[in-house]
Amino acid sequence: MSIVYNRENGTITLNTRHSGYQMKADEIGTLLHTWYGEPAGEEDLSYAIFRMNRGFSGNPYEKGSIDDRSYSLDQLPQEISCFGTGDYRASSVMMRQEDGSRALRLRFRDCEIQPGKYTLPGLPASYEDGKEGAETLTVVMEDPEAGVKAELFYGVFPEKDVITRAMRITNTGTAAKTLLKAAPMNLDFISGDYDLTGFYGKWAKERVPEREPVRHGIQSFGSVRGSSSQHHNPSAILSEKNATETQGKCWGFTFVYSGEFLFEAEKDMIDQTRLVFGIHPDNFEWVLEPGESFTTPEVVMTYSEEGFSGISRRFHDFIRKNIVRGPWRDCRRPILINNWEATYFNFTGEKLVDIAKTAKDLGIEMLVMDDGWFGLRNSDNNALGDWDPNEEKLGMSLSELGKRIRELGMRFGIWFEPETISEDSDLFRAHPDWAVAIPGRKPDLSRHELILDMSREDVQDFIIEKMCSVIASSGVSYVKWDFNRSVCDKYTHALPASRQGEMAHRFVLGTYRVLDALLTRFPELLIEGCSGGGGRFDCGMLYYTPQIWCSDNTDPIERLMIQYGSSFIYPVNTMGAHVSASPNHQTGRNTPMETRSAVAMSGTFGYELDPTKLTDAEKEEIRRGIGVFKELYETLQQGDYYRLTPPDGPGCTVFEEVKKDGSKAVVTAVYDHVRANLTPVYTALRGLKAESSYRLRLIPGHIGDERGRLFAAFYMNEPVLTGRTLMSRGIYIPHYSKEYQSWQIVLEEI
Ligand code: GLA
Repeated sequence: MSIVYNRENGTITLNTRHSGYQMKADEIGTLLHTWYGEPAGEEDLSYAIFRMNRGFSGNPYEKGSIDDRSYSLDQLPQEISCFGTGDYRASSVMMRQEDGSRALRLRFRDCEIQPGKYTLPGLPASYEDGKEGAETLTVVMEDPEAGVKAELFYGVFPEKDVITRAMRITNTGTAAKTLLKAAPMNLDFISGDYDLTGFYGKWAKERVPEREPVRHGIQSFGSVRGSSSQHHNPSAILSEKNATETQGKCWGFTFVYSGEFLFEAEKDMIDQTRLVFGIHPDNFEWVLEPGESFTTPEVVMTYSEEGFSGISRRFHDFIRKNIVRGPWRDCRRPILINNWEATYFNFTGEKLVDIAKTAKDLGIEMLVMDDGWFGLRNSDNNALGDWDPNEEKLGMSLSELGKRIRELGMRFGIWFEPETISEDSDLFRAHPDWAVAIPGRKPDLSRHELILDMSREDVQDFIIEKMCSVIASSGVSYVKWDFNRSVCDKYTHALPASRQGEMAHRFVLGTYRVLDALLTRFPELLIEGCSGGGGRFDCGMLYYTPQIWCSDNTDPIERLMIQYGSSFIYPVNTMGAHVSASPNHQTGRNTPMETRSAVAMSGTFGYELDPTKLTDAEKEEIRRGIGVFKELYETLQQGDYYRLTPPDGPGCTVFEEVKKDGSKAVVTAVYDHVRANLTPVYTALRGLKAESSYRLRLIPGHIGDERGRLFAAFYMNEPVLTGRTLMSRGIYIPHYSKEYQSWQIVLEEI
């Protein structure tokens, strides 16, 4: 039993292998949060909550009336924090009552423990992988005077060290009310001094980790862009001051949601830390008629004493097996070639067949036709929404193109941007009200695009019908689902003025509904998420799309930081990564092919260049890279991932993947600049079996000139070292004077 309700002392304890979480309803029904950290046992940990009259922190009537001025919600750690009833910190629920007041006072009523993991209708949510003993706790909270019920859902995954949280709010009264804020996670720490790491970014530079002390007042980040965004990822890590990559206490959080979110951290007047994580309230107002409920998406939480990398490995295992679903979850996905950077909008069907033929000869397994195959789309100015193939441009029908690609022995994939519409499109001319715009005002354009109103069911049905017919007629087995702008000017013709605040969330639900319909109709379909690169990289999308294009920035040196930052939360096999042309189209940088391929291998691995323009040597290098990827696939994509040096560190970024059974490891090292008279880079490896011996082999086999041979001399005889030595003394990373050189060192247990 991982959830224990101790009726004697009133505690409810949630246990995973290496973490414990506890709550307890107190004498007036406040649901106290008493612990999240190392395993807790069933001891009542509420003893540590110190009550004191602190002035200006009011007392609930039932306490104040008996002159107990030490009891105040303003200082108690709680599972759910309500706005307007004496807790002045960031709150997790705010509701406008029919009389206009905003106060809510939720008190414990009941709880229930059930085997298995709860589901969230219409929303992505984690699930149990086979029989791993997951359990659900539902705590019922009520405010009978306001006529509101809140059910707090906790999913416990004992083997994965994960606890999830979601919440359902119900109007049990007799008149309509409006939910103004709904955050499924409220987490209070009564003591401790912490840092908060978030992941900020922008287009072409997504998910840069930033660690800052939690200070007095509220620190927050989030998105009001309609999607989770490039600018802040819906994830965070709280850590003790002394926590490092390898040790120290850390708590990780990620939202299974692709819409607008807000993460708040607040240090209060007595140095307690509160974290609140949920839907961003700025664009959110949800009307609940009597009897109606609103269910939030869920937050995934994990705890580790092994520093940041402990958090990352727990998230990786969980996302790989308990978020990502379907037939592509566990198997190697096709090595694809995408024509975007090869041709942009300038292609024909014959050109794609040429690319596919050459690619096939190199070992590539799927051709993806990117933007520009539909309507009159020859630039990014027009035609979004006109999802009918442009046969004149292609010079053939889509089904013929699909057939010719498949006849080569390759799979065929196709690009869509379903949630947008061009003003210059037949769809807009037929349905101007399907574009998101406030009546009487011109909406903002972005990349010349407007937003399609995915909050409407008729629009969702249209997109489902269109996409299904293209997929069925062309025999594609892969879809790249793009979304190339942020949402603004929010308004939907489908809702009255009083409900416009529902649009942002309904938009996300609409996207989920379409994704779900596609996967129901085509269960084998592999969908890759994308949003101007990695603008919607979150667990909500990963539930439908096992991989997401990590960034439009394909420069392998810039990618080091993007993939490094992403790796704090997301596993390698979710990060879309391609080998592209050199010089790189975003930065103009020249890099060796082996470096581009080494970096892309710690992603889903594909290509995005014109193979018909490559030299024989480059083609040979691609064949070699594909061979290495296939050989090392399981270690790279399903193993444990360790960040060994940061990209802004010693000039050489090093990371390691270890096969789950510890029998094999791959160390990848990329030099981000050349140095004369170098200082050698040493790194201690991780995750190996201390008592085992490993043979070390250097990839690539060719090590260049005399200098290369000198630097690589140690590795030339395939030395054997014990795991213990490799994890303590470590290895040095060979170097030679070629710019942006990279190495992969393979370790095999003997
Ligand atoms: C976005 C994507 C690119 C490409 C273009 C097509 O920018 O991130 O990979 O698909 O759109 O317009």
